[in-house]
Amino acid sequence: MVSRMVETIHPVSRLDGTIRLPGDKSISHRYAMIAALAEGASTIHNYSSGADCQSTLGCLRGLGVPIEKNGSTVTIQGGGLKSLKAPAGTLDAGNSGSTMRMLSGILAAQPFPSRIAGDESLSRRPMARILAPLTAMGARIEARDGRFPPLAIHGGRLHAIDYTLPVASAQVKSCVLLAGLFCEGATTVREPTPTRDHSEIALREFGAEVESIGGVITLQGLPKLKARELAVPGDLSSSAFFLVAALLIAGSRIAIEGVGLNPTRSALLDLLAAGGAKLRLLNIGQVNGELVGDVLIEHSGWRGGVLEKGMTAALIDELPVLAVLGAASRDGLLVRDAQELRVKETDRIATVAENLQRMGVEIAIREDGFEVAGQQRFHAAELDSFGDHRIAMAFSVAALAADGPCGVHNSDAASVSFPEFYAMLRSLAG
Ligand code: S3P
Repeated sequence: MVSRMVETIHPVSRLDGTIRLPGDKSISHRYAMIAALAEGASTIHNYSSGADCQSTLGCLRGLGVPIEKNGSTVTIQGGGLKSLKAPAGTLDAGNSGSTMRMLSGILAAQPFPSRIAGDESLSRRPMARILAPLTAMGARIEARDGRFPPLAIHGGRLHAIDYTLPVASAQVKSCVLLAGLFCEGATTVREPTPTRDHSEIALREFGAEVESIGGVITLQGLPKLKARELAVPGDLSSSAFFLVAALLIAGSRIAIEGVGLNPTRSALLDLLAAGGAKLRLLNIGQVNGELVGDVLIEHSGWRGGVLEKGMTAALIDELPVLAVLGAASRDGLLVRDAQELRVKETDRIATVAENLQRMGVEIAIREDGFEVAGQQRFHAAELDSFGDHRIAMAFSVAALAADGPCGVHNSDAASVSFPEFYAMLRSLAG
């Protein structure tokens, strides 16, 4: 998603205030897809306002699912596992890898053919990772060059499998589990390292039988899914930008209410706290099986450190903004085993490095990560999201701490996950 929108960010003296974030992107996708397969009307409160989650709703509408929206509340009229209709045209996943990868699990099991496509960025992202397990389940799918979108999905009967994920990916795990809904018997997914478990939790909420023991997830096929009323917690990955901003800017104090604190997502909070960040969690409770609470952060130093192995999977979406924090940390930040960054909305190793270098920050690039020395200064520069929402927001945060105004080009990419980002930043900056 490349446009000509430029956001000018001026350095701020401090950030202060209390905010509530739009619903978690990962959870919103899952609730919408599962609600479409449940029997009855599900109401989803605080559904993500991001364009990605609207792409999921658009695709579901294309499959004949009645959906109503009232602000951030979405009502989805599900008709059971057999209710989807053949789409009239190509389903549009936009910029959303989650939409394409997870929905493909459902589409592969339908008694009709479908075609799903995405924007320029999504069209370059790897799909072989879902084609392998779906083909093993009996699906017939054609992809451009055998591995890229668009996907032409023939649709048909699938059979349950026992699948070991070659890469840690919650999207692939979820794709297989969603396909497993339509299979007789038990579908098993084995994870090399834990990834976000929102699909497992959501499927249980809607009444499916899902067991998860030591990285082995087993779903019983052909469940009767029942419509639910659900509330999506605030998006922890969106909170990362404000948490890092508070750590970068002296005198800052931010309270973020009602954020998702699922342990498979909250490695960021542990990492910040372990490195010396003044961070507190309050009012922790459970909503629809997901841990939710308030996060309070005050400006403080962060030591930095080394991120590798399973840690990188747990922090994958937060690594761009952590690179920014790393440059201001005491000891710097080394990230390795994060090859997955290369196949996100942009090659995030390249786009992080490019923007840091434009700000005069030194970064050493590795094939599987990067190394930034600590105690560096951010110089005013013209920055670019390169069409990637997390790069737009990470470098808007860096710009707040720069020595002069910065332009963030293609800043509207932020709306892919967080359309309210700039307005909330302004409200915190007073
Ligand atoms: C997501 C999983 C991650 C993450 C993405 C959302 C999900 O992708 O980067 O933003 O909702 O399951 P991978 O599964 O490719 O690691």
